[in-house]
Amino acid sequence: MIKKIKVKNSGLIKLKFFNDFPDGNLVIGEAKKTVPFEIKRVYFINNLFNKKAIRGLHAHKTLEQIIFCINGRFQLTLDDGKVKQKIRLDDPYTGIRLGPKLWHTMTRFSSDCVILVLASDYYKENDYIRDYHEFLKYVKSKK
Ligand code: TYD
Repeated sequence: MIKKIKVKNSGLIKLKFFNDFPDGNLVIGEAKKTVPFEIKRVYFINNLFNKKAIRGLHAHKTLEQIIFCINGRFQLTLDDGKVKQKIRLDDPYTGIRLGPKLWHTMTRFSSDCVILVLASDYYKENDYIRDYHEFLKYVKSKK
């Protein structure tokens, strides 16, 4: 499903899982091990019934997150200010690192899509960059 990650401040996170077929899969992520930071916040997004929904459209200054599609599928578009990459997320065992200074957009959700995000910090609106031009300026200023 996912090729190589080409953008900066990202990467693939593979979760360990036990296949107990036909009795289910048990999937595990551990802070500072598979997940490369202490997890302070978890959130999920479901009920994605609007086929035209667009989520994300922002970057973070310092926050580290890992995003998983634990059911269904969607398209994640990453942009580090230079390189853009579209990724189809449909594998519940592989997450994508959303590091700082990475503009991300989520689209093309299946209606059964469930997105799970692990975050390194509490919600702080002042860590968000919600304007694309401001994002480009910020990336250049932090080089
Ligand atoms: P936002 O991060 O913009 O959502 P998305 O990137 O998925 O489109 O958040 C949407 C709203 O939810 C925004 O008003 C902030 C609020 N929010 C919290 O209060 N706490 C949180 O942990 C998150 C992620 C969002």
